[in-house]
Amino acid sequence: MRLLVTGGAGFIGSNFAHYILARYPDYHVRIIDKLTYAGNLENLASLRGNPRFEFVHGDICDAALADTVTPRGTDAVLNFAAESHVDRSILDPSEFARTNIMGTLSLLEAGRKNKVGRFVQISTDEVYGSLGPTGTFTEGSPLRPNSPYAASKAAADLLVRSYHRTYAFPGVVTRCSNNYGPFQFPEKLIPLLIANAMADLPLPMYGDGMHVRDWIHVRDHCAAVERVLHQGRPGEVYNIGARRETPNLEIARLILRLLDKPDSLISYVKDRPGHDRRYAIDPSKIESELGWRPETSFEEGIRGTIEWYRENREWMARVRSGEYLHYYRRMYEDRQRTLSELS
Ligand code: NAD
Ligand code: DAU
Repeated sequence: MRLLVTGGAGFIGSNFAHYILARYPDYHVRIIDKLTYAGNLENLASLRGNPRFEFVHGDICDAALADTVTPRGTDAVLNFAAESHVDRSILDPSEFARTNIMGTLSLLEAGRKNKVGRFVQISTDEVYGSLGPTGTFTEGSPLRPNSPYAASKAAADLLVRSYHRTYAFPGVVTRCSNNYGPFQFPEKLIPLLIANAMADLPLPMYGDGMHVRDWIHVRDHCAAVERVLHQGRPGEVYNIGARRETPNLEIARLILRLLDKPDSLISYVKDRPGHDRRYAIDPSKIESELGWRPETSFEEGIRGTIEWYRENREWMARVRSGEYLHYYRRMYEDRQRTLSELS
């Protein structure tokens, strides 16, 4: 198969490129990535020189480029490229609308024109909004996005749906819960907590710390996307999750325990505006239709992730310099008192 993986220098896209190239010796993977603050060629370093791998530096919103990187004969496009961080979308929504909506549209057009065999839109459970204390998201749950990020992802999902209905385009949408694992940029909860705990810095907990996310190891997400790529039905949506709901505070305490650091590092800070209280995915459809099951327990996955960040301190130091410091100050300065330790 010849695959176009967009956003492949980011967290999940790079994990997917490694995963698929290791499993399928006859597959070819072309990545297109704009290399925003979140894109990192270091994530792909071990693929350099691999004749089945190709990297194109570019923007998915560039319609001419999208057309060029999706020539006739492309078996599938997997659209991972996105602005992905909720807090950044609250600071400045416009780039989220541009990349997540217009970028998806540009890829859909290129795919339609060049007759790609399949288009997998990597979406998120955040399009469903927030749950109360009970219940789960199914593929039939209404779309009620609450952040500019989630709204832009929901808009992209609807474009994919419309292409299927209108043009019989072979689009399929996946909606996964919160990922963690190697190569995740430390603006997201788990790598941020690990990095701060390793450096004896405060662990910022938004609000009361009792917001619930449903965690899945990135390798299990990649395996689910692989199933959808090969067996998913066009026009369908597949929820992906590992049934591992956990309050944020519990995660902070677990990370501190595994790193042998005191709970006193936990620091309650001002809440995120519009903060969704609880996510929980019902993955029954992908389990029963495509035979996918998650394989990594949370306890095993979090230990392995901590180990990865310990072994990749230089990767972490490099991504936590420059733009990251600027962002961190802007995001947490008025939330927390003592950030001078970071600089
Ligand atoms: P990420 O922010 O780590 O990576 C995004 C990548 O997209 C980066 O490499 C960036 O350079 C690239 N990119 C951004 N704008 C681009 C543009 N205009 N053109 C080309 N490339 C561009 O994100 P991630 O966490 O790996 O998420 C990947 C996808 O999975 C996203 O679509 C996200 O919505 C979705 N998702 C993420 C999670 C999660 O927990 N991280 C869960 C469910 C779904
Ligand atoms: O559910 C899937 C989504 O998960 C993806 O679509 C997004 O791309 C991804 O960023 C993630 O969104 P969240 O907003 O759930 O992830 P984040 O890591 O930003 O936050 C997880 C929880 O932790 C959330 O309740 C907010 C809280 N939090 C986050 C940060 C960064 C804190 O308490 N402190 C923090 O410093």
